Amino acid sequence: MNIIFLGAPGVGKGTQAIKLAESLSILHISTGDMLRENVAFKTDLGIKAKSYMDQGLLVPDELVIEMVQERLQRKDCSKGFILDGFPRTIKQANKIASVIQVNKVINISVDDEEIVKRLSRRRICSSCGKGFHLDYIKPKPGGKCDKCNSDLYQRDDDKPEAIQKRLEVYKNQTQPLIDYYKEKNILADVDGSGSVDGVFDLVKKASS
Ligand code: AP5
Repeated sequence: MNIIFLGAPGVGKGTQAIKLAESLSILHISTGDMLRENVAFKTDLGIKAKSYMDQGLLVPDELVIEMVQERLQRKDCSKGFILDGFPRTIKQANKIASVIQVNKVINISVDDEEIVKRLSRRRICSSCGKGFHLDYIKPKPGGKCDKCNSDLYQRDDDKPEAIQKRLEVYKNQTQPLIDYYKEKNILADVDGSGSVDGVFDLVKKASS
């Protein structure tokens, strides 16, 4: 089963994709996480990608496509996977269609006001990568990760200017994928405005 998670920044793609991957025992592949890892290790790709990411822009298609193609060739993808954050352009979608069969596309929606609230208050564990929200999904008292007790950080692109840019980029470059996948009859819409568990019930139904 190969599933794509589509949706604007901050709608909860990562939160839901991790839960669904666990429940289906398939791999969760987040292009945002892969790119951030490259930035942290200062690889050639990371150095090229960083300035785009910090400004809330998409990393150029050819760089991301190469990274994803290389990842999908590894053995652990054979049982299926969830792609979280890819494709984000029609060019990426055409490329992935030529390499794998996409069984389902789950499109999560939340209004912009809630997106800004979710992103501006998001914090991430510096050690295990677990995501929190300072109001909705609270860390341990003292602002530590409840899983590994490490410090939390705020992503550079979760600052107000970058959030606005990411929303604009989503509308111009990624939203057209909704019609692209509707035409292929594999799109399922999910209202992402409820609680994490409530949305997960909808995601499970949409993926079956
Ligand atoms: P990426 O990391 O993919 O960022 P994104 O798409 O902007 O999505 P986010 O990770 O910000 O949000 P999410 O929808 O996963 O929400 P989350 O579950 O964390 O990409 C980052 C950058 O990398 C891009 O801007 C681009 O530069 C580059 N990039 C990546 N892929 C690329 C590609 N294919 N092509 C080109 N460039 C690419 O939730 C958000 C917050 O809300 C959290 O705090 C969470 O705890 C909270 N939350 C989640 N669900 C709920 C809920 N139901 N109720 C209340 N709070 C909730």
